[in-house]
Amino acid sequence: MITDEQFIINGLAGKKTLEGKINTPGAKNAVLKVLAASILFSDEVTISNVPDIEDVARMLELLEDLGVVVEKQDSKTYRLITSEILTHEISTEISKHLRASIVLTGPLLGRLGKVTFPHPGGCVIGKRPIDFFIEGFKILGADIKDTGSGYEIKVKKNLKGNTIFFKNASVTATENFMMAGVLAEGQTIIKNAAMEPEIVSLGEFLNECGAQITGLGTPEITITGGSLLSGKDKIYHTMPDRIAAGSFVILGALAGKKLEVTNCEPKHLESLLYSLLSAGVKMEIKKDSIIVYGRDSKLTAFDIKTHEYPGFPTDLQAPLAVLLTQSDGQSFLFETIFEGRLNYLETLGRMEADVKIIDAHRALINGPKSLKGREMESPDLRAGLAYVIAAIIASGVSTIHNVYYIDRGYEHIDKSLRAIGVDIKRV
Ligand code: EPZ
Repeated sequence: MITDEQFIINGLAGKKTLEGKINTPGAKNAVLKVLAASILFSDEVTISNVPDIEDVARMLELLEDLGVVVEKQDSKTYRLITSEILTHEISTEISKHLRASIVLTGPLLGRLGKVTFPHPGGCVIGKRPIDFFIEGFKILGADIKDTGSGYEIKVKKNLKGNTIFFKNASVTATENFMMAGVLAEGQTIIKNAAMEPEIVSLGEFLNECGAQITGLGTPEITITGGSLLSGKDKIYHTMPDRIAAGSFVILGALAGKKLEVTNCEPKHLESLLYSLLSAGVKMEIKKDSIIVYGRDSKLTAFDIKTHEYPGFPTDLQAPLAVLLTQSDGQSFLFETIFEGRLNYLETLGRMEADVKIIDAHRALINGPKSLKGREMESPDLRAGLAYVIAAIIASGVSTIHNVYYIDRGYEHIDKSLRAIGVDIKRV
């Protein structure tokens, strides 16, 4: 539920005292798609290591609204009974809070031959168009009607497999049509497909349950259509959230004495880790954890350019910018994926960071510059976490509003931060 809870953080004023372990939760951008994929199953799907975050709660509400029976088995495991999908209408009320709801359209159209959904809410990081989805459905033989408040998409009999070329390597468009292809007739080929680890994780699970998908993790994915999948006796264990883990590594470099980020997958973070190592951050990279020694780290400024995986992830751009405000020298920041994802820098500027927005995609940061605590409003979940990191290293007290946004993607973040020594209160 959306409340106006706030975080009150008493900053460390540059002291590097955080220590202990911080756990990496299951990945939001993996589990949301496996939940949506449950529509492809004739019987059931069981999912473990599910993070306790708002977006998961919204997706479960959407699925229940569609007729899926949701059984919570323990705090991190859900069993979804999908034998009866009662409606093709995606709830506007719920989906307007969840951009990821768009990936329900492919499975629903594949299973029911019809889906209606609202124009998805954009969010502050960009207009978030869905032209790739509309085009893709047309290529698979569907008819699209814009009802004004949203879209009604229908197929006469079944989706027909075909080749789809995406102008950008879109993550959710790739996932959506990979799932639609599972129930389309014949072969669907996705070209210029996104290669994120979450897509590979989803595709491999679908294959375990009867799908025939090849090319996962490459720019060309081929899906041979068949029938509904079966999840009997199968469990999807949600992969670690590389964005949460990366955010905690950045925090460790800025304010850690010795901080261990546990249950993560370092190989999904190579772009960040190589950048931090070259900047002078001291880390011990183990099989499924990363120990950051902030006190022994030097921070030399470096340029970043966000890019589709395996390039530098746009979701870590804001947390990394906070580190660049404390790095020695000038950094050039180039956000290539979204056109509205630099606005948070104005808030860092009010905390006395030396930042200069050049245009919608580029900014300059000079450091090191000590930050002062401020009152802030988190605009989206990734900038919200960047504000938490900035408030922790600043001197004085900060208040961060719209904590719902941060709870969307970071599980019990205040509890985890208190456990490593952060003075943070939720009010
Ligand atoms: C996914 O969003 C993630 N969300 C985003 O994470 C992430 O930032 C993004 O991928 C990039 O990695 C989920 O997985 C739920 P895109 P998505 O389609 O799929 C343009 C977070 O904080 N585009 O890969 O919506 C689009 O405007 C969120 O967890 C079109 O033009 O992003 C962007 O410029 C934020 N038309 C580019 O493609 C379309 O139809 C890449 O976006 C679709 C996308």
